[in-house]
Amino acid sequence: DGFSATRLFGQGFSYTYDDLIFHPGHIDFGANQVDLSGQLTREIVLCTPLVSSPMDTVTEAGMAVAMAEAGGMGFLHYNTSVEEQVGMVREVKLQAHTSPGGMNGILQGHAAQTSSQPQPSLDALGRLRVGAAVGTREEDKQRIAALADAGVDAIILDSSQGDSTFQTAMLQHIKASHPALQVICGNIVTSSQARRLIDAGADALRVGMGSGSICTTQEVCAVGRGQAAAVYHVARYARSKGVPVIADGGIQNSGHVVKALALGASTVMCGSLFAGTFEAPGEYVEMNGQRVKKYRGMGSLEAMAKGSEARYLNDVQSIKIAQGVSGTVKDKGSIRKMIPFLLQAVKQGFQDLGARDLHDAQERLANGTTRLECRTGAAQAEGNVHDMYSYEKVRW
Ligand code: XMP
Repeated sequence: DGFSATRLFGQGFSYTYDDLIFHPGHIDFGANQVDLSGQLTREIVLCTPLVSSPMDTVTEAGMAVAMAEAGGMGFLHYNTSVEEQVGMVREVKLQAHTSPGGMNGILQGHAAQTSSQPQPSLDALGRLRVGAAVGTREEDKQRIAALADAGVDAIILDSSQGDSTFQTAMLQHIKASHPALQVICGNIVTSSQARRLIDAGADALRVGMGSGSICTTQEVCAVGRGQAAAVYHVARYARSKGVPVIADGGIQNSGHVVKALALGASTVMCGSLFAGTFEAPGEYVEMNGQRVKKYRGMGSLEAMAKGSEARYLNDVQSIKIAQGVSGTVKDKGSIRKMIPFLLQAVKQGFQDLGARDLHDAQERLANGTTRLECRTGAAQAEGNVHDMYSYEKVRW
């Protein structure tokens, strides 16, 4: 009944999350017994497998503090001066943020993995963890040194196409100059790209190309992959090498998080889902009677004008091609309220699958216990709300 993942993904289709549906498994445990902790990098484990995207309308210090307090982690964008980005790292690293704080927090974090209240993500000194994105140009070496000095936990080498000599050279530079730093490479979507970055020493891989809500890369450049296929194929290879995968982009709801994790990712990165929250940078404005905040692609003309072209252009070009759009998203309230709802919904998804944790879910997928199918257009329509005159949309 249904297909194994090997068979479904072996057919040459670029599936994305909405194309797929899992068959339910057998339940013999409560949803609150589900442990969602996941490996962010070779060395860093998060109780909450969610990280916020290094985008200038998503993650600055306020978002990074809230993410780490919720057991996830935030990645600071670098569309800013070195001093400003380093200042944000220092702001997240103040002791003052950790409640209950210090080493107690670490001890509790290890002891309470299965409690419904996720423990904050703390470093060895009991400070909140934080990551930062950088580019792969010569001048980024000084940025990396300053971030390392300020105590950053992980660096993202930020590129829309990370399978490049620019990236492997920078990875090797960091490993030689700052061996304690965890380095996340990407973005990639295939197992051969993964092989080159893992061979070069990547501590984690960021997966996704063109799946983001603000992305136009697939239309502009004709390269990329459906996000479910990208996560499955990269994670299958990376898992065999012990390297974790971050599923980046395209997450619209808790079901997508369940799919990303069960298909092999250990953490999920969100841009649009977390944009528009109180903790995201920027002010709310009123538009057609709705409170909204700005959300923009880092490859949009607007963001590149502020300096982010390094992610999208590997060399200096006089004509700039946009690979993203800028716009607005609705006010979503506080991320501190959203994350508990999101986590509870994901736990219920895992319970329906019959999987107690990420390892269990991924083993079941790999050995064919979990069955899945491709949804037709009509099946997708059926799976959404239908035949209602009006209804209240879910608000976190
Ligand atoms: P979501 O769907 O969560 O996606 O909003 C966030 C991810 O999208 C990527 N990103 C871009 N991709 N053009 C692109 O093609 C862009 O301008 C752009 N900006 C961000 C990035 O990986 C982010 O985490």
